[in-house]
Amino acid sequence: FGKKWFKSLVLVAGVGLLVSACGSGGQQSSGSGTSGGGSQDKVYVVGTDAAYPPFQMLEADKISGHDIDVMNAIAEAGGFKIEWKNTGWDPLFDGLDKGTVDIGISSITITDKRKEKYDFSDSYFEANQLILVAEDSPVSKLADLKGKKIGVQAATTGEEVVKKAFGDTYEGLKGYDDMPSSVDDFFNGRVDAVVGDNGVLQYYVNKIKDKKFKLIKDDSFEKEFYGIMVKKGNTDALNKINDGLKKIKENGKLQEIYTQYFGSK
Ligand code: ARG
Repeated sequence: FGKKWFKSLVLVAGVGLLVSACGSGGQQSSGSGTSGGGSQDKVYVVGTDAAYPPFQMLEADKISGHDIDVMNAIAEAGGFKIEWKNTGWDPLFDGLDKGTVDIGISSITITDKRKEKYDFSDSYFEANQLILVAEDSPVSKLADLKGKKIGVQAATTGEEVVKKAFGDTYEGLKGYDDMPSSVDDFFNGRVDAVVGDNGVLQYYVNKIKDKKFKLIKDDSFEKEFYGIMVKKGNTDALNKINDGLKKIKENGKLQEIYTQYFGSK
């Protein structure tokens, strides 16, 4: 027994010597050790606009939904702590600018314009725009909405496709702060159509079964990819997110969450 103990001592001493022999080659920068308070203790503030079912919603004062489950799973797999903040849509971008929000997940489409100011994770969801109209409407493509009142959530890709088709100052365009307001106005007859993300519009159509609506995909609508957004240059958060995302893609967790909300496809 004594011999074993002595051997370990020699081993420890040996390692100690080896480390000192390597000199000050930067082993301090790892930040590990007994000091505590390292970067692994940081709690990242995750902002979202929890009015986008079934991706982000507020149920009994609790934020829930597909994106919420995805982000929680990423944080768990990536080994970092998060804290949720229901910011709303525009303030989410402001929060990232000001640093009151570290991470944004909110069905955010990765666009070149947004990439000028923010960095995006790998994509976790594929989407596209759809047009919501009454079932008996003669509308069958985006161009048919010319002269009609169109509701969108302001500063989204839905607004972009309408502006692209009818011009930036199209007077029939009504931009809302959140998606539910645009859909409410449609159901109340104040706009003729809503243009928005497929998953959300499909959710509303499924929910209101007694009335008849249809969803139309215009040929001009391109594939969109949702990404998780950080302030440009925040590679610390971005690497952790991508690492966790990769893991939940590989272990099937991302697919499992998808199926839970959208069924198998
Ligand atoms: N995917 C669209 C975009 O990025 C709409 C996202 C809106 N998200 C929300 N939580 N309201 O512009």
